[in-house]
Amino acid sequence: MSGIPSVGIHDIAFATAHYVLDLDDLARHRGVDPAKYHVGLGQDAMSVPAADEDIVTMAAAAAAPILRRHGTDNLRTVLLATETAVDQSKAAALYLHPLLDLPSTTRLVELKQACYSGTAALQFAAGLIARDPAERVLIITSDIARYDLDSPGEPTQGAAAVAMLVTADPAILQLDSASGLYCEDVMDFWRPNHRSTAIVDGELSVRTYLTATGRAWADYRMRGGRTLEEFAAFCYHLPFTTMARKAHRNLLGTLGAEWEPERIERLLRDSTRYNRLIGNSYTASLYLGLLSLLDHAPDLTDRAVALFSYGSGCVSECFSGIVRPGYRQHLRTAENRDRIAARTAMTYGRYRALHAGHDARYGIDHVLDPDTGSPYRLTEITGDKRIYQKA
Ligand code: HMG
Repeated sequence: MSGIPSVGIHDIAFATAHYVLDLDDLARHRGVDPAKYHVGLGQDAMSVPAADEDIVTMAAAAAAPILRRHGTDNLRTVLLATETAVDQSKAAALYLHPLLDLPSTTRLVELKQACYSGTAALQFAAGLIARDPAERVLIITSDIARYDLDSPGEPTQGAAAVAMLVTADPAILQLDSASGLYCEDVMDFWRPNHRSTAIVDGELSVRTYLTATGRAWADYRMRGGRTLEEFAAFCYHLPFTTMARKAHRNLLGTLGAEWEPERIERLLRDSTRYNRLIGNSYTASLYLGLLSLLDHAPDLTDRAVALFSYGSGCVSECFSGIVRPGYRQHLRTAENRDRIAARTAMTYGRYRALHAGHDARYGIDHVLDPDTGSPYRLTEITGDKRIYQKA
């Protein structure tokens, strides 16, 4: 494939929230058959932030291991993609400047378009690096998926941040130059400024996701992208993990391709393992899926991976990359699994109280008691100023 100088993901790390709620507990309290969540949605648990965690603390925790390993030389841009903004004006990335000891010669920006904007960040980073291959760009996708209590979206909540260092001659995933796009103005999911929870037309959102990913694939192919048969794995945006199965079956259907269910499962399963335990993490979800694939799949060296990004509203992008030789040496697989296992189990009552507490504190000065085990925490909001602390 033709293209820009070799650009892609040189390092990738993630963080999630302090608490975990088992979806069996949620099902029991809601009087729902747990199989609806485990089988119907393909979700087993969801990460729930402590009161002193937010997208900034998760973003810092995700990025810190990357900066410890690579330092900040030639790092001139940090792009934070989120739809859980903490301010209407100031970029959440700015709070990372002191928390991560970033150089004062850094371009720090926040990007928004529902779950899609991490992919925009990746493409913008590729452009910056094509202009100056010595530059390195840090992208952080960080989100907390919150729906109303007792709503259909509730079991798909979750929280995570994925940080990626994007460079020339990357060690993990080299991006192909072809990418396919689809956009449409549609009200399938949105969150007006006065709300902390999303409004969603569930059925429309699923239908639009299917249409958009299929159309993005068609554009990808028209622009010289790989064929279906070339891919060793497919990573989809994962609002819940059965969405990837639905999307892939839909894509095969539109292409008239008939694949055995076992083959579909083999090509999707490894990318859904972490998300099944964490829930939707909006912008981070696709990249958590990629990380899950890299951590679980048999050797992917020199194999192609397809990525389908979708953000409600909507923008979708299909793109791809080749896994680099030696990539496993750069992963943190044991650490990643430990991080998920180390979350603190919470009761249903505690979960409800935390969910309600979030809105009760909105716009009111408050100091937060230490709760999270993360090295980064939100300590207080006074005069509408957010104060963060690193351990
Ligand atoms: P719902 O109405 O609770 O669920 O909402 P359902 O009745 O449609 O059931 C879900 C599945 O479980 C169905 O499977 C049922 O058959 C099955 P399907 O027919 O779809 O294959 N089921 C069972 N399976 C086994 N045993 C049982 C059982 N009972 C039922 N006993 C919905 C589901 C996804 C709409 C809801 O969770 C929701 O509103 N979620 C939020 C929106 C969402 O995730 N949309 C996805 C596409 S949009 C997107 O991905 C973007 C997003 O991430 C936001 C962004 O971009 O910023 C959300």
